[in-house]
Amino acid sequence: MTNTPPDALLALTDVNTFYGQAQVHFDLSISVPRGHIVCLLGGNASGKSTTMKIILGLVKPRSGDVTFDGASLLGLTTPQIVRRGIASVPEARRLFADMSVRENILMGAFVRDDREAIAQDLDKMLTLFPKLGQRLSQRAGSLSGGEQQMVAMARALMSRPRMIVMDEPTMGLSPLYVDRVLELIRTINQEGVSVFMVEQNASLALEIAHEAYVLQTGKIVLFGSARALKDDPRIRDAYLGGSEAA
Ligand SMILES: Nc1ncnc2c1ncn2[C@@H]1O[C@H](COP(=O)(O)OP(=O)(O)OP(=O)(O)O)[C@@H](O)[C@H]1O
Ligand SMILES: [Mg+2]
Repeated sequence: MTNTPPDALLALTDVNTFYGQAQVHFDLSISVPRGHIVCLLGGNASGKSTTMKIILGLVKPRSGDVTFDGASLLGLTTPQIVRRGIASVPEARRLFADMSVRENILMGAFVRDDREAIAQDLDKMLTLFPKLGQRLSQRAGSLSGGEQQMVAMARALMSRPRMIVMDEPTMGLSPLYVDRVLELIRTINQEGVSVFMVEQNASLALEIAHEAYVLQTGKIVLFGSARALKDDPRIRDAYLGGSEAA
């Protein structure tokens, strides 16, 4: 058994996951220290999104444990997990296209009933994401990809999470928005929210992460500080050089 480091806010320990007969994770162990940004890198179909789904209680591992702040999340529903302090920014944003930007953002507060504080938090989101201020009554589906990503991030923050988990937050965005989103992730983290993000684009992720894991067909093949991994020839060969992985 791998021991969970004492400072881990989130820890996956020896997780084995299957879809039917097909094994997707092999003794997966990942830990996110309090206050850190941890990135999970890996190519197509390596099991990245499934890792997110395990954390959110959407997929059950066959064995192993997932703990948040020392307590197991296994067996909890997604709303229960959100109440413990984890919010998600799913793949492709998953907004309600026909609802307004305001309605989408407020949906993130579904676990709360402190109306006044919710209104204050909405104002705070408009300070963090000023562009959304003029768009509050607009259909979410009419926004650009970058703006939608900001709505998804604002929605996640509305639950006042201790941790945000994100699936490929920069995918499909224009270079300008990629930089903006990375900067916002850094800002959110500096305000005390720990971050676990899945990314295919290693060079981007390693710019903001504290640590990173590399997943290859369901196994962690590399782990280290982002600084060390940036210079690791194995990462450079697999991701940073040659063909573009994103
Ligand atoms: N609901 C499902 N039922 C059966 N197999 C699935 C299911 N979801 C994912 N898989 C398979 O599990 C493996 C891992 O998928 P996963 O989505 O976790 O990978 P990923 O690393 O996020 O890939 P991508 O880079 O394409 O986003 C893939 O082979 C995928 O086809
Ligand atoms: Mg995926």
